[in-house]
Amino acid sequence: MTAGPSAWDEDYRKRGNLWGGAPASLPEIPAGATVLEIGCGNGKTLVALARRSSHVTAVEISREALLLARRHPATAAAAFVLADARDLPFRDCVFDLVFLVHVAGHLPARDRITLASEVCRVLADGGTLIFRAFSIEDMRAGKGVEVEPKTFRRGSGITTHYFTETEALELFSPLTPVLLRTDRWQMRVRGKYLPRAEVEGVFLKG
Ligand SMILES: C[S@@+](CC[C@H](N)C(=O)[O-])C[C@H]1O[C@@H](n2cnc3c(N)ncnc32)[C@H](O)[C@@H]1O
Repeated sequence: MTAGPSAWDEDYRKRGNLWGGAPASLPEIPAGATVLEIGCGNGKTLVALARRSSHVTAVEISREALLLARRHPATAAAAFVLADARDLPFRDCVFDLVFLVHVAGHLPARDRITLASEVCRVLADGGTLIFRAFSIEDMRAGKGVEVEPKTFRRGSGITTHYFTETEALELFSPLTPVLLRTDRWQMRVRGKYLPRAEVEGVFLKG
């Protein structure tokens, strides 16, 4: 049930920049810190990161997405790696900051555990994980076919898992949470206000 490279590639090929608008607010990036974004997509978050740091590496499973992200002038100094987040091609403890923004929810439960263990492995001691994923309170939770608990497949073939805060805590249990909250706002759709919600976490290694 994983939305593998083909589903993502096809979507990016057909629709181009899938993710637009402003990225979520980002933390300060200390000078010289090594930064990894996992699942950079067409570069929505990556562009903002690359404007703050010249030590950014971006990993993506979709070649089409990488090509789109690379096209942006702001990412000229970033390193791009076509790879699966479940098997990151990096040594242990090499990144001071890891960004995992709307990626974990697209993996099935078993693979989310592998992904989390890769994140913990590549984070440097004292390093920080910035995590965001859709919450079970989001208006889209429950739409489509439920393929695993709280995980829905919609028309594009891409699956999304909707998190609780507790799940995020459990997933990254080897790390220390420094912030865990649900970000809630309203989105107006055809004259009605609908709930949007994301689980946001900041976790420290060591
Ligand atoms: C919703 S997009 C997130 C884009 C980006 N993080 C942002 O903030 O705009 C999810 C991305 O995760 C990528 N992805 C999904 N599974 C992956 C995996 N196993 N390894 C690496 N990237 C993956 C997809 O190709 C897709 O581009």
